[in-house]
Amino acid sequence: MQLEGTICVVTGSASGIGRALAFEFSRRGAAGVVIADIDGELCAKVAERIEPVVPTLAVTCDVGDPLAVQDLVDRSMKHFGRIDIFCSNAGYSDPVTWDLSSPIEVFENVTRVNLMAHVSAAKAVLPSMVERGSGYLLQTLSSAALISGPAAAGYTLTKFGALGFAEWIAINYRQHGVRVSCICPNAVYTAMFGRSKDLDTPVVLPVLDEIGEMLLPEDVAAMAADVMEGEETFLILPHDRVGKSFQRKANNYDQWIERTASRITSLRPNDPGLR
Ligand SMILES: NC(=O)c1ccc[n+]([C@@H]2O[C@H](COP(=O)([O-])OP(=O)(O)OC[C@H]3O[C@@H](n4cnc5c(N)ncnc54)[C@H](O)[C@@H]3O)[C@@H](O)[C@H]2O)c1
Repeated sequence: MQLEGTICVVTGSASGIGRALAFEFSRRGAAGVVIADIDGELCAKVAERIEPVVPTLAVTCDVGDPLAVQDLVDRSMKHFGRIDIFCSNAGYSDPVTWDLSSPIEVFENVTRVNLMAHVSAAKAVLPSMVERGSGYLLQTLSSAALISGPAAAGYTLTKFGALGFAEWIAINYRQHGVRVSCICPNAVYTAMFGRSKDLDTPVVLPVLDEIGEMLLPEDVAAMAADVMEGEETFLILPHDRVGKSFQRKANNYDQWIERTASRITSLRPNDPGLR
């Protein structure tokens, strides 16, 4: 798909990877970009920044609410006439499900935002894509969708579920001209890692000994755009080692679990999640 001339909707685009995707699509000649986020104020600021280059629409939207997602799609269609690319990117890393003692509501909430939002978006946007015989769903998932371990339990279960759902769409809607790609990064320097959400704060990459290579969201967005304009692969793996680990897991699942378990134990000997 050529990004030039496309109408793109990006959820969670007030900050981080979503914002970087919105800027990248604008740079590559998108004809319209919808900035959607639960943070309406920041959403409007990002839209204002892009507007001189590309027409934008800012929509305040909680993606965990199916009616709000339907409203986002309806308003985008009304404003721009169609949606070529829907990036289901909004999500959060729940900080509490390191062990299983959290109330079930904590798991339900992260599921609502990180998993069910993808379902709401697909239900709302796919009919018009099928009707036109083309469309692209870009899902921001995580390395935690492919290989569990360091991430929290709630985060892991939602990202795995979202990958399964994306795979199902990729298979069942391919014949209708719909393409699906899933960005599965490891650490990316965004608000999730303490980066300021302010649009003008200079970026200084922190050094992370335990996690390893940290990428910038701008680099991840550029890589995703390259894939969309090129190979259109289902998986977009900004960190090489994620692909290698996924391969090792596929080759010998039990050995991979055993080795990952001892690595995690040595990294976090006092982590309650290990009990
Ligand atoms: N940063 C990383 O290291 C990393 C790694 C792997 C995957 N991811 C994934 O990338 C995606 C984007 O995260 P990020 O790192 O850019 O973080 P971020 O916090 O910078 O951006 C997330 C954005 O999503 C918005 N958001 C959160 N909940 C929302 C909701 N219910 N409805 C609408 N908007 C909502 C936030 O307001 C924020 O603007 C997430 O799905 C996250 O799981 C991030």
